[in-house]
Amino acid sequence: MTTATACAKCILLGEHAVVYDRPALAVPVSSLRVTATLESNNTPVLELVADDLGETILVTPDILARSAQALVVIVRETLHALGQPLFGGRLVISSKIPIASGLGSGAAISTAIVRVITTHLGLTLSTDHINQLVYKTETLYHGTPSGIDNTVIAFEKPVYFKRGMPLELLSIHNPFTLLIADTGVAASTRVSVGHVRELHDANPALSETRMDAVAALVERARTAIESGESSALGTAMDENHALLQQLEVSSPELDRLVTAARSAGALGAKLSGGGMGGNMIALVTPEQASSVAAALRQAGAVRVIETTVSGS
Ligand code: MEV
Repeated sequence: MTTATACAKCILLGEHAVVYDRPALAVPVSSLRVTATLESNNTPVLELVADDLGETILVTPDILARSAQALVVIVRETLHALGQPLFGGRLVISSKIPIASGLGSGAAISTAIVRVITTHLGLTLSTDHINQLVYKTETLYHGTPSGIDNTVIAFEKPVYFKRGMPLELLSIHNPFTLLIADTGVAASTRVSVGHVRELHDANPALSETRMDAVAALVERARTAIESGESSALGTAMDENHALLQQLEVSSPELDRLVTAARSAGALGAKLSGGGMGGNMIALVTPEQASSVAAALRQAGAVRVIETTVSGS
């Protein structure tokens, strides 16, 4: 049996604007992972079992050639990249990453599948190549992905990401602590990205101004991270949340958690990912972490994860 894993991600600043070619910052969440296991057998069918998605797909050569389902597409892309035919077996995916919550579960599932098939066949693919394969499935989840989710997950490093530009790793001066709190409201990135697109098309000039404002915050936050100024990072996060509210991708549940974190002393707080539900993040000192986490639970968070972001 072969096993491979992939991490979750969280966007620090710049979500949505990154779709419009502005920069964004994202970090891996290594404690939350997808695990894929693969065992060959002598049937002609590859059974794909995704318990968390409630899906079992029997992949025959015909289905492999024609299916548009993300799980099958990533198997097809991987085998094609490796120059290998379909083989019989059972590939089981189990994920600790909540679905539709802004933590990159789709990209993590695809990454784990590429890795497990590649390792199982005793072959290798570069991280860049894995990243490109996973990007193809991201387009199935929402039409215009920036590529930030697959990039941070494939490389499992903090990144400064701008579409079409060479990847830049973030250098982190002082490790910092984040709380990631889940509203418990499932939200589709496709829907939130589509909503921002509608606002953009209705008033392109206003939308571009907002995207520029987000980009300026991303640059400020990058400087703060690279020089270890936590309070400046927190302020940039707060301002980014306000801009995301203007883009109409926040929600009452997200706003409630953001307010609770700030009232409990967090240095900054904002929604993270597609929004309209899903997760928010709060920047805290290690000493504050448990009291801010308690305040977040009190304000309705169904799950709070603490993670330390350290150097690349
Ligand atoms: C989703 O994690 C991040 C968004 O900016 C979409 C994307 O970048 O493709 C909302």
